[in-house]
Amino acid sequence: MPKVRVNRHAYEVHAAVGATLADVLRDELSLTGTKVACGEGHCGACTVLVDGIPTLSCITLVHALDGANVTTIEGLRDHPMVPAFVRADALQCGFCTPGQIVSAVALVDQTPKPSTEQIRHAMAGNICRCGAYPKIEEAIRTWRD
Ligand code: FES
Ligand code: FES
Repeated sequence: MPKVRVNRHAYEVHAAVGATLADVLRDELSLTGTKVACGEGHCGACTVLVDGIPTLSCITLVHALDGANVTTIEGLRDHPMVPAFVRADALQCGFCTPGQIVSAVALVDQTPKPSTEQIRHAMAGNICRCGAYPKIEEAIRTWRD
């Protein structure tokens, strides 16, 4: 059985071989903040951090993650990026928002003051069907305000 740390808690995964990280987070650990939209690696809704790297949990097999550290949106609840999204009104339906925030946190961890070009590059894999992109960019530009 693979062992992973999720939001600093150690878990032994019981899911069948072939289960995705998204399945385990949502169904086994009840961490439903991670959303699944396309389920095929195209939209970014399911993004979590695996050892600090933004990762599409819908196409990541959990059995490949033995020993990894996973951070979900629940593990970022105290991060200043969350109120930054609220201040900037950076969401409409909110379905893409957990993945957007996870990707944004990974960006500012590496580049605390990203340029617009760096923001667009880092966030390119996170689709927002509501088109909240200008406000998402504003949230990331102002996350420390
Ligand atoms: S749900 Fe994983 S990339 Fe769309
Ligand atoms: S806020 Fe609705 S998909 Fe982004």
